[in-house]
Amino acid sequence: MSILTLNSVRYSYSSKYHTVEALKDVNCEFEQGLIYAIVGKSGSGKSTMLSLMAGLDVPDKGDVLFRGVSTRTMDLDSYRRNDVAIIYQNFRLFPLLTAVENVMYPMELHGIRPREAKKRAEEYIRSVELNDNVFNRFPSMLSGGEQQRVAIARALAMDTSLMLADEPTGNLDSQTARNIIELLARLAHERNYCIIVVTHDMELLDMMDVTYQMKDGILVKA
Ligand SMILES: Nc1ncnc2c1ncn2[C@@H]1O[C@H](COP(=O)(O)OP(=O)(O)OP(=O)(O)O)[C@@H](O)[C@H]1O
Ligand SMILES: [Mg+2]
Repeated sequence: MSILTLNSVRYSYSSKYHTVEALKDVNCEFEQGLIYAIVGKSGSGKSTMLSLMAGLDVPDKGDVLFRGVSTRTMDLDSYRRNDVAIIYQNFRLFPLLTAVENVMYPMELHGIRPREAKKRAEEYIRSVELNDNVFNRFPSMLSGGEQQRVAIARALAMDTSLMLADEPTGNLDSQTARNIIELLARLAHERNYCIIVVTHDMELLDMMDVTYQMKDGILVKA
């Protein structure tokens, strides 16, 4: 069974004066063990689709199914806490926590004792090819690429098989961007994760297993 399925998903933003039909009829399936790219013009609906897949909202019509269960009927708090990890373009690390503390955070939420969480956090940070000397630095003392790796390590610490990333390499130079996608692809293949990456960068698509294109609220295979 696919880990995530979108069935005739529609979503609009409404204000007092007008309505934007952001997703018109999105149908798609995502499998574990693969890394997917979602490309498309600005405003085409990519982030909207990601936020529905992340359970931040539910569709107006149609369903987002995680392992066959609709986000309409599940406990969304539990889904967001336990089943899906999100990586943002601007990292969203906690500024007052060190790199290790940032990565420990999701594990502590899951009740893992600090000593064990710290040990695992250090392993996750090493696994994204960062040096031990970043452990005790605050985000402001790290480069953009280093912060993004810490954000990936934090997502890994959630230990979920579904990872969503919205422009994770948007702020990075092309070599660092390639290294990060290479790392995510390896995680998908080796750990059987499903990783879905929104990107504008066509040079990264050769590393993706499947590419979809969002066109005015409709998703097509690229
Ligand atoms: N909170 C909101 N209120 C009203 N309209 C919105 C809101 N968020 C997005 N939209 C509109 O919905 C459409 C899809 O937006 P979305 O953010 O999903 O696009 P995107 O493909 O992620 O674009 P980008 O590449 O610029 O990030 C756009 O027309 C946008 O203006
Ligand atoms: Mg967007």
